[in-house]
Amino acid sequence: MQRLTIISVTILLVGLIGTWAHQYVHEYEEEDRAYIEDETESLLDLLSLNAVPERFRPEQYFIGRGTKKVQAFSYKNCDPSAVAQIQSLSVTPDPLQFPGNLNIDIKLAINSTVDAVLPASLIISKKVAGIWIKLPCVDNFGSCNYDDLCELLSQIGDCPDPIVKTGLGCQCPFKAGTYQTSDLSFEVDAAALPSGDYNITGSISHMGKPAGCLELILTVA
Ligand SMILES: *[C@@H]1O[C@H](CO)[C@@H](O)[C@H](O)[C@H]1NC(C)=O
Ligand SMILES: *[C@@H]1O[C@H](CO)[C@@H](O)[C@H](O)[C@H]1NC(C)=O
Repeated sequence: MQRLTIISVTILLVGLIGTWAHQYVHEYEEEDRAYIEDETESLLDLLSLNAVPERFRPEQYFIGRGTKKVQAFSYKNCDPSAVAQIQSLSVTPDPLQFPGNLNIDIKLAINSTVDAVLPASLIISKKVAGIWIKLPCVDNFGSCNYDDLCELLSQIGDCPDPIVKTGLGCQCPFKAGTYQTSDLSFEVDAAALPSGDYNITGSISHMGKPAGCLELILTVA
């Protein structure tokens, strides 16, 4: 239940990331993965390994590697025309440590009310040997498209108090306004994600127009 709460918060904050994390972990724990086809399976195995975050690597490691080193948590509103824009966001500690606390400080502006249907998509990549590798979509988790975020949210019972207090809530519709909280803190008891650097990019649309797009670069120690 606690994890579901975390998920619901995260969804609101970062698009669909939380859903993904929950489902991903959930599936990993509970399902025999034998049904997954070879290629996907080896990709998932690769991504489920713990990777040393780049900030802890010696400088020599980066010689000859093209991509920019992940130094710290960062976020970006990836579509400036979207109705919802994050005005500030911090996720601490950085790097995240599981088990442990996850603290979120966020200010979100929605400039016109959005309601069902909200198609959403998520792209999750992990840095492996200096290269971003995209996770596949398997059974609705990973880098997937979702038909309606509102419907996904309706399956989550609990809305964390700090989110209720902002007036935003956890269910559609999401009304125009500015929402801010620094009280979101969760104790995550399980190894929610294997260590490494992640790029989690979520986008939501509404009636064919961008409703929100957020790119997160975050590190799990
Ligand atoms: C909402 O914000 C977007 C970009 O931030 C802007 O293009 C649009 O005009 C705004 N709409 C309203 C109703 O303020
Ligand atoms: C993160 O992923 C998104 C979606 O694939 C991509 O557009 C973006 O460039 C990536 N960001 C970085 C820093 O690699």
